[in-house]
Amino acid sequence: MTADISRTARNTDEIPALDIDRASAVHSYKADRLGFFYAVARRYGPVVRLWPGTILVTGPEEVHAVLRNTNRTNYLDRDLRRKKPTATPGSARLNAWMSTRRTAIVGMTAEMIEEHARWLAGTAGQLSERMLQRGRIDDLMATLAGVTSASVARFCFGTRAASAIPETAQAMLDALFPIVASPYDFPEWVKLVQRREWRASRRARKMRAALLETAKSDGEGGLVDVLYGGGLDDAAVVDALTSILLAAHGVPAAATAWVLVELARHGDQQETARAAADRWVGSGPEPPELGWAVDETLRLWPASWVAGRAVSEDAACGSWTLPPGSRVVIPFWVTHRVAECYPDPERFDIRRWEQFSPPPGAYVPFGAGPRRCLGARFARTEMITIIAVLLQRLRFRIEGEVRTDARATLTPTGFELLVDPR
Ligand code: HEM
Repeated sequence: MTADISRTARNTDEIPALDIDRASAVHSYKADRLGFFYAVARRYGPVVRLWPGTILVTGPEEVHAVLRNTNRTNYLDRDLRRKKPTATPGSARLNAWMSTRRTAIVGMTAEMIEEHARWLAGTAGQLSERMLQRGRIDDLMATLAGVTSASVARFCFGTRAASAIPETAQAMLDALFPIVASPYDFPEWVKLVQRREWRASRRARKMRAALLETAKSDGEGGLVDVLYGGGLDDAAVVDALTSILLAAHGVPAAATAWVLVELARHGDQQETARAAADRWVGSGPEPPELGWAVDETLRLWPASWVAGRAVSEDAACGSWTLPPGSRVVIPFWVTHRVAECYPDPERFDIRRWEQFSPPPGAYVPFGAGPRRCLGARFARTEMITIIAVLLQRLRFRIEGEVRTDARATLTPTGFELLVDPR
């Protein structure tokens, strides 16, 4: 933890403020984003003013209050490119997105996800063969992203030829990375003249065109049919597909990579999960130990580790009131460590999920409230399917020191995964 922050007295009427200047705070944040937020939460409590207009919220009760009130007293104030959207509470744009979301969520039925998982099990089997041939995997994220991106493309487009979609999504994500990873939030007029913004716009247009063309091509099935069947027009379908394709490409790959890393680091828990995988036939309710491994990993390593909101009207948040006009930053990674329901929070322990249900706000890897991840059920099934198939065939060890890249998606780096046959 590199942050150097001294303690201030807590006043329940007034939101406590950091007693270092903004430049020093940004410096600490740049050096270690997770450590900075964690140190601030530990020293100042669940709600802290980082600098004028920006409030850090980490306590479970307070996180729950903010997320639950999304679209009412606060809203998502950045789109994927960190641009300020106009989707404020009550706006036509927000209502349109919420309706598109509902159509997608209702359309992702349990049967559709289960059918997809059977296909995915075959793809994960091929992945296990490739991993075994290589023996040492030094690019686990990219290896898994190959599977998750093909998986979501198939889920969205059914039998349509969608093999070019993962590459288009990757190009878009590559263009977004420097924007999302930047610690600085430039004013909109600066963004107008930034080359990286132009590149991201070009790739976004290209991606939207590719999605529409693929959606209109010969073939059937997948979420595209559900979205058109729900009465959405081309623009709304492309909006939904863009969000889903980008969200379901690298994030589930990172989350699955973290599961393998943790199981490779904890041989006994790997055996527990493998025994469960052996009992699983690939459909129906998964053996609980596999679910615990995924839940515990998402607790320690929530791949989408931070969310932001803009406060639009006075809003109660624990003992405090968030003032309109402020921005709220919610680092889930910190909440999953400071929540009192997790004894010894740094310890990876899949058994802690046995007969345990965390209180509201204490476990939010998929967010919560009206803007909760719309692919949460799909993602969990995807992760469990890939992990189960790999554990049924392979053993994992780790070499090197695992480091954490938190510039955008939370990603494990700096190690090799050693793969042995069962
Ligand atoms: C382990 C994998 C995943 C994790 C950890 C994750 C996490 C999250 C989180 C935390 C949010 C909410 C952010 C906020 O409140 O500001 C979110 C939103 C979203 N997720 Fe996921 N996600 C995952 C996989 C997926 C998948 C597979 C899909 C699609 C099938 C998906 C689609 C979306 C979409 C479209 C949104 C935006 C929802 C909105 O703006 O209303 N995610 N995700």
